[in-house]
Amino acid sequence: MVGKKHKLPRIAGGSVRERARRVEEPNADRQSSGGATIAIYSVKGGVGKTTFAANLAWCSAQDGHRTLLWDLDAAGGSGFLYGLEPKGSGLAEEVFSRDRSPAKLIQRTAWDGIDVLPADESIRSLDAQLMRIGKRKRLAKLTEELSGSYARIVLDCPPVMNELSAQVVRAADLVIVPLPPSPLSARAFDLVVREIAGNTRRHPPILPVLSMLDIRRALHRRAREANPNWPSVPYASAVEQCAVHRQPVGAHSPQSPAAQQFARLWRAIEAKLAERAA
Ligand SMILES: Nc1ncnc2c1ncn2[C@@H]1O[C@H](COP(=O)(O)OP(=O)(O)O)[C@@H](O)[C@H]1O
Ligand SMILES: [Mg+2]
Repeated sequence: MVGKKHKLPRIAGGSVRERARRVEEPNADRQSSGGATIAIYSVKGGVGKTTFAANLAWCSAQDGHRTLLWDLDAAGGSGFLYGLEPKGSGLAEEVFSRDRSPAKLIQRTAWDGIDVLPADESIRSLDAQLMRIGKRKRLAKLTEELSGSYARIVLDCPPVMNELSAQVVRAADLVIVPLPPSPLSARAFDLVVREIAGNTRRHPPILPVLSMLDIRRALHRRAREANPNWPSVPYASAVEQCAVHRQPVGAHSPQSPAAQQFARLWRAIEAKLAERAA
């Protein structure tokens, strides 16, 4: 599996043409901008969102894009994986509720070209604050402003379906959904697509990626065969080690198959973004 090239699917999730057309419909009002916001999203926890976000942000920077990794999950995993701690507590949410400048909270990482906007405890109340503020495109406006400084913004999302996730969908040019391989992978993806599609009239392309794929396991192989066009990230101790080294896999194990697979996934994401202009 590793070493084989997988293109991102043109049809997300299977057979229904109508759904595919809907899934592929880009947010037309973003097509003109060269920058891009990529959300890593699922309604489920523990599926690999933070791992994807941290590693894909690194790939983006390696690709020459000035990149911001924005942690929207109070668990704070993205910042942690870059060895960062929030500077002050209770401030991350004020970017939304009090117009606090995100620039003040953004932290540099050990790598050129990649900065992190870490989460903190205050992010837990973000959904309620967004409801209170009532500005449906608050996050989209913020990412648009930040796109003046960052060519790529990667959103590490919490596993929720609420006003925050609706704002994520409005802000994103592309939504990546990590899916652990199982006989239910396709159904799990359909669920995410349905929930997103049911909550917003127009939404960006939504792309499934098998995460934690272990081809020694029969069920994983079957999930792979059932979704042959889905890209994948292997289950690998090199990926787990990110939390030990507090570095992305491409930094601490650049030769590993997992690092190569993330780089390949990133190239496919860029190809998908390029289709916006087409
Ligand atoms: N490809 C992988 N190989 C091995 N472990 C992984 C892989 N992807 C994620 N993990 C591990 O699975 C756990 C959950 O991943 P995480 O990215 O935090 O999920 P989420 O953000 O969706 O909750 C973490 O302990 C992480 O190290
Ligand atoms: Mg997470």
